Amino acid sequence: MAREIYVVGNWKMNHTLDTCTSFWDDLEGEDFHPNVRAGIAPAMPLLHISERKSTAPIDVYAQNCHEASSGAYTGESSAAMLKSIGITGVILGHSERREIYHESDALILAKMKHALSADLQVIYCCGEPLDIRKAGAQNDYIKDQLEASLLPLDVDQLAQVCIAYEPIWAIGTGETASAQQAQDMCAHIRSLCTEKYGKEAADKLHILYGGSVKPANAQEIFSQTDVDGGLVGGASLDSGSYMELLQIAGKLME
Ligand code: PGA
Repeated sequence: MAREIYVVGNWKMNHTLDTCTSFWDDLEGEDFHPNVRAGIAPAMPLLHISERKSTAPIDVYAQNCHEASSGAYTGESSAAMLKSIGITGVILGHSERREIYHESDALILAKMKHALSADLQVIYCCGEPLDIRKAGAQNDYIKDQLEASLLPLDVDQLAQVCIAYEPIWAIGTGETASAQQAQDMCAHIRSLCTEKYGKEAADKLHILYGGSVKPANAQEIFSQTDVDGGLVGGASLDSGSYMELLQIAGKLME
């Protein structure tokens, strides 16, 4: 079955108001294929760019949210706050959040449940480190990650989730997984979801690849059967290369 292709830019801690605004200016009036879902996840202070949705059909995502709806949590933002300013969804489980901020699977699951209950979409990230890949243990590692922080969701919750497989060794390193490695893992993830949720739900699921996606390799990666687009860091910072990625995705949809 035909799924949409997502091209979501994870800007991490990059861009300021000026450069963010000119990025949106550059994309203004651009036409994307209707089955390409364009998204950008800017840092918290730039999320209000979502108000410009009408000028370029780009969904705006947050890079994090708290697991409680309100309270004494200095520096944090709740899913309801994000929803109230027109944010489409939130990236959770990113390896940088897991590693640098010690986010556990239990915390990620709590954040996911909270975000989903506020009607935000979740882009749930998983991925193995290099030593696990070298040992050939990546399938079991991802299974454990999913069992701890994704598969406890019910099938209705899953319908609001998009999964991003991001091997840690390929993030920001310039080293991309091969298209075959991306396909194999995305197929593995889909089969784990089939076991838990059934074929119909798993077939509808969007599974993205992330890790040094750029215009030079996107076509091969996005054309894999079980890969439904990309979560893109570095190559999404520049409007020209982000636009190229959208065009590559659009051609695959024709
Ligand atoms: P990268 O980042 O494209 O710069 O490797 C991807 C990500 O961390 O989401």
